[in-house]
Formats: sequence, C-alpha cells, structure tokens
Amino acid sequence: MQKLDIAGLQNKDGSFSGDIWGEVDTRFSYIAICCLSILKCLDKINVKKAVDYIVSCKNLDGGFGCTPGAESHAGQIFCCVGALAITGNLHHVDKDLLGWWLCERQDYESGGLNGRPEKLPDVCYSWWVLSSLIMIDRVHWIEKGKLVKFILDCQDMDNGGISDNPKDVVDIFHTYFGVAGLSLLEYPGVKPIDPAYALPVHVINRILFTK
Ligand code: FPP
Ligand code: ZN
Repeated sequence: MQKLDIAGLQNKDGSFSGDIWGEVDTRFSYIAICCLSILKCLDKINVKKAVDYIVSCKNLDGGFGCTPGAESHAGQIFCCVGALAITGNLHHVDKDLLGWWLCERQDYESGGLNGRPEKLPDVCYSWWVLSSLIMIDRVHWIEKGKLVKFILDCQDMDNGGISDNPKDVVDIFHTYFGVAGLSLLEYPGVKPIDPAYALPVHVINRILFTK
C-alpha cells in the first residue's frame, strides 16, 4: 500500500490536493492546516505559500472560492477564513466586505442562512456562515434570534435530529451542524465550540495548551 502524508499533498503553488489523484480545492488547504495544527506539525508545510494560495482564491465580493477565480461560496469561505485564523493571517480578509456578503445570506422570512445568492436556506450554513462571521468579528450583523428559530424549526420533535430545512427529513450531517450553530448562538445548555476548528473549546484548549 502506498504511504501518504498530509504535508506531501502540498503542491508547488502552496495549494493542497485531496489525494494522490491531485484534485485541488481550498477545502483541502483547510483540512491539511487544521490537522497539522492539531498535531503541532505546521512546520512540516510551507505555511506562507499555503496562505498565499488561499489569498489568491479571494474574490472582489470579499468571499473565497475553491480555486482562484471560482465563485464565492459560504462553505469555501469557512475553509479559507478558518485556515487564515489558525495560521494567524486574518489580516488578509476584508472584514467589512466579507461580513456584508455573509450577512446577506440570511433569509428575511425564515431566518435561515443560504450558501450563496438565490439559494435556499439550509441548517448547515448556520455553521459555515456563522463561524466565519465570528472569526471576523461581524456576527452581530445577523438576526441571531431568527436563526435560532430556523434551526429549532428543523427538528424532528418525535424522533429527534435536525434536517437541512423544515420540510425535509433529519440526517446526521445537519444534526451536527445544527447543534454546532446553536452553540455559536450561545443557546442555553450547549457547550461552546471553536469557530476555526469545529471542535468543543475545552477540547481545543486541552490540545493546544498542553505539551
Ligand atoms: C452544497 O452547495 C454544498 C454544501 C451544502 C456543503 C458546503 C460546505 C463546504 C464546501 C465546506 C466543506 C468543508 C470541509 C472542511 C470539508 P451548493 O451551493 O451546491 O448547494 P445548496 O443549494 O445546497 O447550498
Ligand atoms: Zn446543508
């Protein structure tokens, strides 16, 4: 079996491939940086080049896409902002411009967030959008109460779980991101989650602040 290490997936331009077949995407930059940070092995990659590549995926609307020139999408924005936050490079983000684009994702009627213009609101964007807004200090630009109501409206009150939209059936992916979103919204009884690592704050503190 072929051996594959995370650092070995970094390309010459600083980007990361997801596997040996080579597809490049800012999701892979985030995953590599997040894993190597948790492992305290960021020195195994060229962080400056990784950051330069992410910055090259920044668009005129302040958002980020999966490759240079690709459309801004809230999922990719989480990946790019998260990677920049972990490596201490948030100064590359135009916070007011990106904050505006992100808070435009809130649907006035339902209170839910979508991933890009003209798309339907979906519970998982409570994570992708809200975590990004928190990392750039602009979370007060959305109506938090309306978003809490949207997430709670997506619960299956008989069998448990959370769906993407009040009309759909629950699944584990949206249950995780619904609970994670409620945590970011400081919903009572839900422990705090770290917006860059998507792990509970007490777990991240234990990992990062112990030898
Ligand atoms: C559909 O987008 C895609 C999603 C709902 C997931 C978006 C999340 C990411 C790209 C980030 C993934 C992060 C990691 C770390 C792997 P769409 O715009 O095609 O569809 P929509 O209408 O459902 O929003
Ligand atoms: Zn979703």
